[in-house]
Order: sequence, then structure tokens, then C-alpha cells
Amino acid sequence: MSTTQFDPLQIHPKTGELFLRLPSPHDNIIITPPRMSDAPTIVSYMNDPALYYWLEGPPFPYLPQHAEEWLTKIKTDTDAARERLDRANEEHGDAPPVVVPCWPIRSLREVREDGSELFIGDITLVRERWPDLEDKEAKATLERANAAKEDGDPSIVWCIGDYLAPSHHGKGIMTAAIRTLLDKWAIPRMGVRQIRVETFTDNIGSRRVFEKLGFVFEKTVPLERRVLNSGRRIEGMDILWWKADS
Ligand SMILES: CC(C)(COP(=O)(O)OP(=O)(O)OC[C@H]1O[C@@H](n2cnc3c(N)ncnc32)[C@H](O)[C@@H]1OP(=O)(O)O)[C@@H](O)C(=O)NCCC(=O)NCCS
Repeated sequence: MSTTQFDPLQIHPKTGELFLRLPSPHDNIIITPPRMSDAPTIVSYMNDPALYYWLEGPPFPYLPQHAEEWLTKIKTDTDAARERLDRANEEHGDAPPVVVPCWPIRSLREVREDGSELFIGDITLVRERWPDLEDKEAKATLERANAAKEDGDPSIVWCIGDYLAPSHHGKGIMTAAIRTLLDKWAIPRMGVRQIRVETFTDNIGSRRVFEKLGFVFEKTVPLERRVLNSGRRIEGMDILWWKADS
């Protein structure tokens, strides 16, 4: 079978999954699809204050059932992307690469010396939903218009969400992983041309990651009444943008 449509993703020799390897010095880290077996590790990460303090979406406390539901949901998207690529390979493997609506890989894994793989984080790329906008009607209008655009439309506004195991913070891993996914997949294969991200105003590490990736600070949105699932009150969100050179 031709693997042209997978390019530049590789095929995992043990699992048959698609994957990318980070460049040196992080070449012991690969990005693969999610696995249901990640659930217990995700539960332990999501109940660690080094993560839940900074995250708005996940329930708190985070239970095994939350991880199973989340993995089932995100696997539906990554499995569909893989099926789309398999079908394209069967139909016209040597044709120009097809546009794919999402990335088929997103889970960071550290490959240990004994060959075992430790799940260490996740990167989401979704169409933007303007979580800082408190005017519900304006938010819904923007979301609807963004969701209605055809796959590959350069005017789609995307958003990134990410987290890394606390044991691995501060080594440049997330910056390298997002850069790899953008350069090798999102830009060439999904037509991503603009990304808007939100970081809590005190999340200096997350903002720094995006700045290192070339995102530009636009504004701070004060959010006086926003309380996270963990009970923490946040003060606001910093909005940053990345736009492809036209
Ligand atoms: C945000 C997160 C993904 C970053 O991953 P990471 O691999 O540690 O990031 P990197 O090592 O690539 O870069 C972090 C940068 O922030 C800097 N940084 C981190 N905390 C900082 C702080 N309190 N003050 C100043 N700089 C800080 C680091 O020095 C580094 O910058 P440098 O390379 O210029 O020195 C990770 O810390 C995490 O999972 N945090 C909890 C979840 C989260 O915040 N997710 C993002 C939600 S928007």
C-alpha cells in the first residue's frame, strides 16, 4: 500500500499507529493518536494542582469515567482522520495530499530505553470558540460562522489547548511539539493560516510557549466572575494570535 498520503507521518512499528518524532534534543518523544490505555495516567495528571490550576475545561475532581469519555471523544476525530488518509491512499495514493479536518496525532509519549512509552501530554487543535467572550450571542455568531467554513478554508480561526506532565515542564518540550505539529501537519495538510489562543493572565509559562512560537499578544480580557471547576477564580485571559505570512 502506498503511504504517500501519510507523509510526513511515520507508521509505528509496534502498533501500526501514525506518529511523528520530535527533533533533537527531544527525539525520545513521539506524538501518536490517543490510546484508551492512557486513562489512568490522565486521571493522575488532571488531579495534580500543577495542571488543574491552569485548565478551564476538565472536570474537578477528575474521575476515571471523565478520562474514558474524553478519550472516546477525541479518538473519534483522530480515527476519522486516519480513515480519511487510508481511503485517500487506496483511491489515489500518488495524488496531491488530501486536506484533512484535524490532526490524526496529538498525544505526547516519552519512549523509554526499554522501549516502553509513557504518556506525557496532549495538544488539541480545534476551531476557535472565543471562550473569553461573555456576550453569548456574539460568541455564538462567531462560533457558528467559524464552524460552517469548509475544511482547508484559510479564513478558519483555530485554537490550541495543551498540557504536559508536571515532571516534564520547563525543558522546551511543548514548544518543540507544537512547532512540529504546526510545521509538519496543520499548516501543510489542514491549511491552518490563523490561530488565536487564550492563556490565563498569570500563566506566564503558557504565554511564553506561544511567544516562542511566534504568536503575538493582542490584549488582556478581564474576567471578574469566571471560576474554574477547581474553584479557582481567574482574573482574565491574554489573547495571542499567530498568522501565516501571506
Ligand atoms: C504550559 C506548558 C504546556 C508549557 O510546557 P513546557 O514544555 O514546560 O514549555 P517550554 O519548556 O517549551 O517553555 C516554557 C517557557 O516558559 C517559561 N516559564 C515557565 N514558567 C515561568 C514563570 N513562572 N515565569 C517566567 N517564565 C516562565 C520557561 O522559562 C520557558 O521559557 P524559556 O524557554 O524562554 O526559558 C506546561 O507548563 C503545562 O502543561 N502547564 C499546565 C497546563 C497549562 O498551563 N496549559 C496551557 C493552558 S493555556
